[in-house]
Amino acid sequence: MDEPVASVAAEPPFPTRPPGRQAAKPADFTLREMAVFGSTAALILLSVNALVCATWSSFFGLPGWIAWQALPGALAVAFIPATFLRFRSAHPAVTVVYALSAVWLGLLNFAFFAAVGCWIVEGMGRLAGWSLPPFALAAVLFGVAVLATGYGLINARWIRVSRVEVRLPHLPEVWRGRTAALVTDLHLGPLLGAGFLRGIIARLRSLQPDAVFVSGDMFDGSTHGLDQLVAPWSEFSTRRGIYYVTGNHDEFAERSLFIDAVKRTGVRVLNNEKISLDGLQIIGVHDSEAGNPSELRSILRQVQIDRRSPGILLAHRPVNLSVAEEEGISLQLSGHTHRGQFWPWNLLVSLIYGRFASGLSRLGKLQVYTSNGVGTWGPPLRVGTKSEIVLLRFEEELDRP
Ligand SMILES: [Fe+2]
Repeated sequence: MDEPVASVAAEPPFPTRPPGRQAAKPADFTLREMAVFGSTAALILLSVNALVCATWSSFFGLPGWIAWQALPGALAVAFIPATFLRFRSAHPAVTVVYALSAVWLGLLNFAFFAAVGCWIVEGMGRLAGWSLPPFALAAVLFGVAVLATGYGLINARWIRVSRVEVRLPHLPEVWRGRTAALVTDLHLGPLLGAGFLRGIIARLRSLQPDAVFVSGDMFDGSTHGLDQLVAPWSEFSTRRGIYYVTGNHDEFAERSLFIDAVKRTGVRVLNNEKISLDGLQIIGVHDSEAGNPSELRSILRQVQIDRRSPGILLAHRPVNLSVAEEEGISLQLSGHTHRGQFWPWNLLVSLIYGRFASGLSRLGKLQVYTSNGVGTWGPPLRVGTKSEIVLLRFEEELDRP
């Protein structure tokens, strides 16, 4: 019979860095920086919107395409102030504008490629001496864009369970065949609330993992109603505990606000520290420090990893992997990428993160699992990716030196 684990998750016997240490957050940016960023983003969005509306107007034979741009253009640009405003305000109007503009941006993404497709097919037809009825061409391509958006909205809320076997050298016997759930990128906030978390916890209950690891982005960045958002965690427990480190969104404001709210639910926050969980070393490093190679190395040395037993690192972003590998980590559990959420951003994310964009990969002796996450940021869509809870099943690795 396994020992209960509440005692092994006690306060660590070594120093930790203060939870208040963190990187730049939105509130740190000057008005000028925010204005430059906002106006650049607005210009891009308005240009895309103009192309879509002009194409729509031209191919459907609707006059006055400039007038067509007013509402969709305003909706596209509204995403920028709404994104900043919701960090400061929980007013329902802000949430509604943010939600509508986020969905519109998702549709605009697919509509942009539909518009480009219209002009390309039309141009090819002219060169080849044939033509399709413009209305039919636009109806098909814009129809696909609308269907992709609708599918993306539904698909994003359909949470799958990815079952993964991870083989670790020198795995303690008590952990062989045991499971842990990796849950990342919940993005709890105005769009995904406590009800969303309750649904995730119901899934976790049915999976009965021995432990749960939350590798960051528990929150979306807003500091409103944090206790209410994470309250469902207090109604759930596992045999070996629930562990959390911050993601970049959990550092958009003073991160102690987010950390303290999580702590109050009974979830164990790993403040740049190591605990021993029945012979398994669990190291949690918050996003600011994990994103800085020298700070990450310093923390990993400070916690004194025992290379004769497996060490699992919770770190939000799949970065600085060579540091983790050199310092003796066996398995890093990350999220952050969302796998790009929807086409074509999934391709861009793959370009940036390579084989570490999603799933299980290896760098030398280090294995890395990057989760797509369970929630979404920005447009609440997933096309070409899936929302996932990862159920890791541990076995001993015998073959590798
Ligand atoms: Fe995230």
